[in-house]
Amino acid sequence: MSIGPGGLDIGYWLHHAWMGKGLATMAAAALVEAGRRMSGVDRIEIHHDEANPASGAVARRLGFTEVERVQVSEGPTAPGETGVDVIWRLQPAPRPAPDAAGEGGPVRPGCQCPEVHCGCHTSAERPGRPCEHG
Ligand SMILES: CC(C)(COP(=O)(O)OP(=O)(O)OC[C@H]1O[C@@H](n2cnc3c(N)ncnc32)[C@H](O)[C@@H]1OP(=O)(O)O)[C@@H](O)C(=O)NCCC(=O)NCCS
Repeated sequence: MSIGPGGLDIGYWLHHAWMGKGLATMAAAALVEAGRRMSGVDRIEIHHDEANPASGAVARRLGFTEVERVQVSEGPTAPGETGVDVIWRLQPAPRPAPDAAGEGGPVRPGCQCPEVHCGCHTSAERPGRPCEHG
């Protein structure tokens, strides 16, 4: 979800039967990686009520930093919430300047991602090679 120019907000929610298995972390990590690859994105945020520390643990695991706690003007929106939002932020590294072929330069040494707009490889490394981001 967009939160203004350059900003994306990631949200996640699990049925209790599926908690504690790493699924939220894994899904949010995939969304963070997708956000990193989008041009013009300079911050990715996760917002959660302070009554949900497990949500913050997912953000911390993914390298986000808590930046703010704000009182939500409409108050709690679900039972058990406090109405105070905790805001976590990750600022992706700037994309590399385009090389002569108009594509990104090598940000991660050894990356051979086949995606055209990955932004972490040179055009010479790209064709037919698997991505090694892990
Ligand atoms: C936020 C929420 C999705 C987190 O659920 P969760 O089960 O804690 O998160 P994960 O699926 O990533 O599981 C992480 C747990 O699994 C464990 N785990 C097991 N294998 C793992 C793996 N491969 N990778 C990461 N964690 C793993 C972790 O150790 C962690 O346990 P811990 O909390 O005891 O350290 C859940 O609490 C929820 O739905 N809350 C209500 C909604 C909400 O607040 N959403 C936030 C608004 S954005």
